[in-house]
Amino acid sequence: MKTIFSGIQPSGTLTVGNYLGAMKHFVDLQDENHCYFCIVDEHAITVPQERLKLRENIRSLAALYLASGIDPTKSTLFIQSEVSAHTQLGWMLQSISYIGELERMTQFKDKSTGKEAVSSSLLTYPPLMAADILLYNTDIVPVGDDQKQHLELTRNLAQRFNNKYNDIFTIPEISIPKVGARIMSLQEPTKKMSKSDENQKASILMLDDEKKIEKKIKSAVTDSEGIVTFDKVNKPGISNLLTIHASCTSETISELESKYKGKGYGEFKQDTANAVINTLRPIQQRYYELIDSKELDDILDAGADKAEFAANKMLAKAKKAMGLGRVKKKK
Ligand code: TYM
Repeated sequence: MKTIFSGIQPSGTLTVGNYLGAMKHFVDLQDENHCYFCIVDEHAITVPQERLKLRENIRSLAALYLASGIDPTKSTLFIQSEVSAHTQLGWMLQSISYIGELERMTQFKDKSTGKEAVSSSLLTYPPLMAADILLYNTDIVPVGDDQKQHLELTRNLAQRFNNKYNDIFTIPEISIPKVGARIMSLQEPTKKMSKSDENQKASILMLDDEKKIEKKIKSAVTDSEGIVTFDKVNKPGISNLLTIHASCTSETISELESKYKGKGYGEFKQDTANAVINTLRPIQQRYYELIDSKELDDILDAGADKAEFAANKMLAKAKKAMGLGRVKKKK
């Protein structure tokens, strides 16, 4: 049995990119593994957040995890800020991180370039992410393609700590899905689909209603060739829709290419919209049952207790390895 850890930021309503690249795969892992899934709210505050909106997004993300199939009897679901070991170990890992390597992170460059007031936490985000993972003896981290660089840094920090202090951290492996690891924007298909995209037509949100989903997919940018084939370089729009369609059904991309041979984009787009709608419908139904329930709070309370117990054990080991605190005298 392996230990799995992954986290999602409550920085807006999740997109189908988050679902198809990450969340969907979490559900498949929970039968055979020991899983921790986290709402990483302390990561979300690395960019400005409106407090009431953040609160709403945290609860919404918790309900979406459960509605997507995370089973609290099998997995531990919790909120990062409710387990203080995360920021404590995050600080300790900052002390072995180099400014140069943090400045090289693509996410830091993307979010800071051209901005005047850049929060220092945007720079020190990766050691906190490393702490999230390393606190639980994690073997595997299932994520989308955009988290590769952060995972590489996590492995480096774990190795650096183990060599310098004591061999306490498990070196985690990354797991990226074969299809759906990078869902692209519907409006600019060479750019990643993102929760924070200002263009509302660019992303399908997990809570969009059927009409909206249909409209967004029908207005997705494609090309004028009229042939449904996968070609990321020359046909990024159609390739993205093929990926979304395949990830929402049991059909492969090549099966879809054959199915739509000689057919126009209209029919293909309509079927893609239906595939997304059918995937999201049961999730949305369960979401609305959960969102205002006490059950949700009970699950998060139990999750925080379980996570805290495991995390504190590792934090104590790390503090001891670094020489923090003291050894209490018996007499
Ligand atoms: P976040 O919140 O940006 O995204 C959550 C997950 O969704 C994946 N993802 C995508 N997959 C495919 N296509 C897309 N367009 C797309 N957009 C996002 C992400 O790869 C991720 O798996 N740093 C992380 C959160 C985090 C974390 C962790 C993850 C904090 N601590 C520890 C794993 C382990 C982030 O910002 O994810």
